[in-house]
Amino acid sequence: MENFIFHNPTKIIFGRGMENEVGKEVVKFSRKILLHYGGGSIKQTGLYDRVVTSLKNAGVEFWELGGVKPNPRLSLVREGIRICREQGIDFILAVGGGSTIDSAKAIALGVPYQGDVWDFYTWKAEPQTALPVGTILTIPAAGSESSPSSVITNEDGWYKKGFGSDLIYPKFSILNPELAFTLPKYQVACGASDIMAHLMERYFTPTANVELTDRLCEATLKTIINNVPTVLEEPDNYDAWAEIMWAGTVAHNELLNTGRLGDWASHQIEHELSGIYDVAHGAGLAVIFPAWIKYNYHHNIPLFAQYFTRVWNVDHSFSNPEQTILEGIKRLEAFYHRIGLPTTLAEINIPADRLEEMADKCTDYGRYKVGGFVKLNRDDVLKIYQLASK
Ligand code: NZQ
Ligand code: ZN
Repeated sequence: MENFIFHNPTKIIFGRGMENEVGKEVVKFSRKILLHYGGGSIKQTGLYDRVVTSLKNAGVEFWELGGVKPNPRLSLVREGIRICREQGIDFILAVGGGSTIDSAKAIALGVPYQGDVWDFYTWKAEPQTALPVGTILTIPAAGSESSPSSVITNEDGWYKKGFGSDLIYPKFSILNPELAFTLPKYQVACGASDIMAHLMERYFTPTANVELTDRLCEATLKTIINNVPTVLEEPDNYDAWAEIMWAGTVAHNELLNTGRLGDWASHQIEHELSGIYDVAHGAGLAVIFPAWIKYNYHHNIPLFAQYFTRVWNVDHSFSNPEQTILEGIKRLEAFYHRIGLPTTLAEINIPADRLEEMADKCTDYGRYKVGGFVKLNRDDVLKIYQLASK
């Protein structure tokens, strides 16, 4: 196990009706805030009205900025920064999914910074401070509700880039599993795929002797695999949603990478798909992850055999562990299909004509290698795109 410091400062407020507490939480930080949300689902579900009532009851004045798109855009972030500066706003409340939360974090970084907020996402500058952010989560998926990262798409060149800093851990996140009842099935599946990917990115590690976090990752994966089919059948099954929502947070709040190095190549490889083709992040991961496993499992056959035996209940073949892995990949792909996700680029109508461009962008034209488990160069990344297109 590697040395580590674990300090997740996000206060989690979990359970039925907890969004009604938001005003009381916000006034601990500010009485003048930006209320940030997506394309309108929060208005259709009635959540918006409850949030506004709670804010008003607590005496919180708010400006609104809706319209965050999945794969949130830099232009809206800039708009949010402008509003906050003009109005002297010093707190951002994000109500929505990972996209809204990430957009809120970007605004929070940009307001006190003199330069362009994109500097942080391109490693040109390090932030010294950020406004505080609070969240009400409406989709278990990205884990942004208690992560130190934000992923933004710059429309100028369609670059999708992530940035991480302890400054942008949300101060609090409200998780009411009932808020997920209204999710379209495809978003449920995309969210599940993202949570699974966050666990697999951590699981496939070069670090030895990390049994506790292996086991915690396995348990969290099994929780998703067991409960997602239930909510697809019964969208208002609170108990199953509660498991998924908490698993989604635990999967990405840094606890499960304590003492171990993660991989994260699949995320970087996927970001090029979302950046250019605007596919949902979870759908892109369902396409990339099986290809990444096929390309890399030979680097540590016992680890992959352990994963598929423990998580996917494949019988372990002692004489031919590779057989265990190949059977496991089939089960993983079958699960994605069962919940309605693609596993090839063709299934999401992505042709093979820009794979080279994506491999270039992903590795900054061959200057960087991606991945902590195996370091992949530009040609390796291209081969993974090629495997994913079949
Ligand atoms: O915009 P609205 O109208 O709210 O609709 C959203 C959106 O269309 C809808 N939705 C959300 N909650 C709903 C709902 N519809 C009905 N009922 C509800 N309760 O779902 C759609 C997807 O929303 P989005 O916020 O894009 O989903 P998600 O949470 O999957 O976020 C994806 C983004 O997070 C980034 C991804 O790259 C992607 O841009 N990630 C952020 C991470 C982080 N900050 O730590 C880590 C992740 O690996 C990921 O990269
Ligand atoms: Zn993700």
